Amino acid sequence: MEINKVGVLGCGLMGSGIAQTAAAAGCTVVVREVTEELCERGFSGIEKSLAKFAEKGSITPEQRDEIRGRITGTTGFEDLADCDIIIEAIVENLEAKRDTYNQLDAICKPETIFASNTSSLSITEMMTATRPERQARFVGLHFFNPVPLMKLVEVVRTILTDDAVYESAVEFAGKLGKVPVRAGDKSGFIVNRLLVPYLLDSIRALEEGVGSIVDIDNGMKLGCGHPMGPLTLLDFVGLDTTYYIAEIMFDEFREKRFAPPPLLKRMVKAGLYGRKSGRGFYDYADPKKPTPMSLV
Ligand SMILES: NC(=O)c1ccc[n+]([C@@H]2O[C@H](COP(=O)([O-])OP(=O)(O)OC[C@H]3O[C@@H](n4cnc5c(N)ncnc54)[C@H](O)[C@@H]3O)[C@@H](O)[C@H]2O)c1
Repeated sequence: MEINKVGVLGCGLMGSGIAQTAAAAGCTVVVREVTEELCERGFSGIEKSLAKFAEKGSITPEQRDEIRGRITGTTGFEDLADCDIIIEAIVENLEAKRDTYNQLDAICKPETIFASNTSSLSITEMMTATRPERQARFVGLHFFNPVPLMKLVEVVRTILTDDAVYESAVEFAGKLGKVPVRAGDKSGFIVNRLLVPYLLDSIRALEEGVGSIVDIDNGMKLGCGHPMGPLTLLDFVGLDTTYYIAEIMFDEFREKRFAPPPLLKRMVKAGLYGRKSGRGFYDYADPKKPTPMSLV
């Protein structure tokens, strides 16, 4: 099944990147947000990103305008009824996602594939919010931030996913210029299954006084060749997001390595979410020169 018209739910960090990437691949894209203001905010992010690609010469000014022209916004569900695929990138909350799928199931054409960009929730539990006929057409499409630059997409299947639907999703990831990897519906899939315990361990190392923030980051950067240290990466991903993901993964596996450390919880409660709130393991008062916080 060829995928040409793409619906995107949510125009935040991930939804805006997914919309831009699908439009750049030639798809017609409809993005649904809760309010027009949120839609506009997402679109201004897309325009800034496209402008950067044009400045660098990766796309021409004409291509920039064509890509932007393929994306429209809406606050209703009806405009998504004839999409070939709907990719959901709303808040990491199972009930919110189930509610959205339930409403869409009633209005979308029977062929529409439903996909979620969830980082840690169960695709199976979202799937059961739809009618049995739709359940075989449910997959996970897990993109990485920033979507227009990151090459990987985890394509996730449940035990009920139809083989042809799954292959269409894998093919679609390729059409977007991404490298698909195949994963089963287990919390965190491949990447977060391995990454989250590592990030949480770096917080435990800090809590236990193994090293300072800067030394832990430099240790992994220079000792393992990582482009950034784990505490810097946590500030990028968002400490609130990491905390929710860790809770969900701990709930699924009941293994200590997924348990959020007390320092992470305290930081989230104190509003230290990382770059997006201005402070996390580093203070971003001067974003070009982050300074380590005094936390332990
Ligand atoms: N941040 C990351 O690095 C990352 C990476 C991969 C996957 N994800 C996953 O992607 C999803 C979105 O994450 P994000 O970082 O873009 O969050 P975000 O908070 O930046 O964006 C979420 C957007 O969804 C909108 N929204 C909420 N309910 C909606 C609804 N019913 N219909 C339409 N829009 C709605 C919100 O207004 C908001 O703009 C989550 O499931 C997250 O786990 C995030």
